[in-house]
Amino acid sequence: MMSPSRIDSFLEKTIGLSAEAIGSEVIAKAVRLRMADLGLPDVADYYGHLMASEKEQAALIEAVVVPETWFFRNKKTFRFLVDYVTGTWFKENPGRPLRALSIPCSTGEEAYSIAMSLMDAGIQNNRFHIDGVDISETALAGARAALYARASFRGEDLSFRERYFDPEGDAFRLHDDVRQPVRFLRGNILNEGILADQEPYDFIFCRNLLIYLSSRAKQRTLELMVRLLTDSGILFLGHAEREAAVLWGLVGIPEFGVFACRKERKEKGSSIQPAHEPRPCRRRFEKVERCLQPPRLAAPSHSVGKSPESFITERAPNDSAQSSIRGDLFDEAQRLADKGALGSALELCGHFLNDHPIHVEAHFLMGLIYEALDRQEKAEQSFNKAIYLDPNHSEALNHLSFIVENRGNTARAAHLRERAQRVSRKQAEI
Ligand SMILES: C[S@@+](CC[C@H](N)C(=O)[O-])C[C@H]1O[C@@H](n2cnc3c(N)ncnc32)[C@H](O)[C@@H]1O
Repeated sequence: MMSPSRIDSFLEKTIGLSAEAIGSEVIAKAVRLRMADLGLPDVADYYGHLMASEKEQAALIEAVVVPETWFFRNKKTFRFLVDYVTGTWFKENPGRPLRALSIPCSTGEEAYSIAMSLMDAGIQNNRFHIDGVDISETALAGARAALYARASFRGEDLSFRERYFDPEGDAFRLHDDVRQPVRFLRGNILNEGILADQEPYDFIFCRNLLIYLSSRAKQRTLELMVRLLTDSGILFLGHAEREAAVLWGLVGIPEFGVFACRKERKEKGSSIQPAHEPRPCRRRFEKVERCLQPPRLAAPSHSVGKSPESFITERAPNDSAQSSIRGDLFDEAQRLADKGALGSALELCGHFLNDHPIHVEAHFLMGLIYEALDRQEKAEQSFNKAIYLDPNHSEALNHLSFIVENRGNTARAAHLRERAQRVSRKQAEI
């Protein structure tokens, strides 16, 4: 019996897929499916066939890729885009059409979400152009057809579906005016010549691909992003991916809940901030202490003199009256974190956890805040608490995997990512 690692190597070399990241079992399952389809019971025979046939190579790639996506995945990203475009980009680029790229675009939800966001902001569809690129022809066929089942619509606010789709049987057909500025192309992100003849892009969405790639492929992808971005362009990544880009040399944009980077640091007067909010901290360039602002809410009296960390203690809840007063603290902490007031958010979240020591989302929020403050050890502790309380918290699992990977523990990182993927797949089936 031939070791499946030759097939793993083929996939790494061809599309950058890391067997460790996606899980060898996922690849083995795809191979078994292909072998069954072809009626080939022996892996060595299958490998020979794979090497000889481009058609089979494409089929195996189709079987192994993860096309999981949905409209407005991480809403904050799209809000940030619109704020920045309307507040800054159009002023700095009068008359120039905006260019965006979704790579990988999978079945098109991300590219169309960009279009809908811009149109919602009153921008006409002839003022922007969007390219969507993916290696999967099946996914691209879905993107071009623009007929979407319910799984593509997640979250509470689906009002965009009423504005931009018509029901068709059990599915929903996207309006032509949203489709018009979007073009889909097949491409392998590892192909040196990919999009070489295209003008650079002002905004690139490269989300939820790096997590599946080997380090070599991550590096190649980030090099490509730099080549394809305009000098002042913004790259949007998935939540567990930005850190890799920053460590590699891109500059993180410190916007809570948005995982974006740009090519190089802009000095004073940077126009990178969306117009609506001053950003409170410039990650990696200023001391974390400077990010810690005084709390906007009066702290409960017993908190005086305590550091935020001292509130992450597993104490029994206080009496219910006090608990209900604190009930709003979590929302307020979240709101502050969203605004970028990380120091205040950290403190309030700490107060809240003092009374609600088994509140999963509060531990998760704490982890996000620590992560944004570059306090990876504290972030790890918080995410660990979140998954201890809820082993199916896929976001906490993803964040934790990234931190652990940065510490060099790739095996544990891969295990955590596998767990997260299993949970996401299960949730998508529901
Ligand atoms: C999880 S989806 C991401 C879709 C979207 N960006 C999002 O975040 O929702 C990953 C996509 O990456 C594509 N892909 C994987 N390897 C690729 C490669 N080497 N080049 C281009 N696309 C690739 C897959 O076909 C799949 O559609």
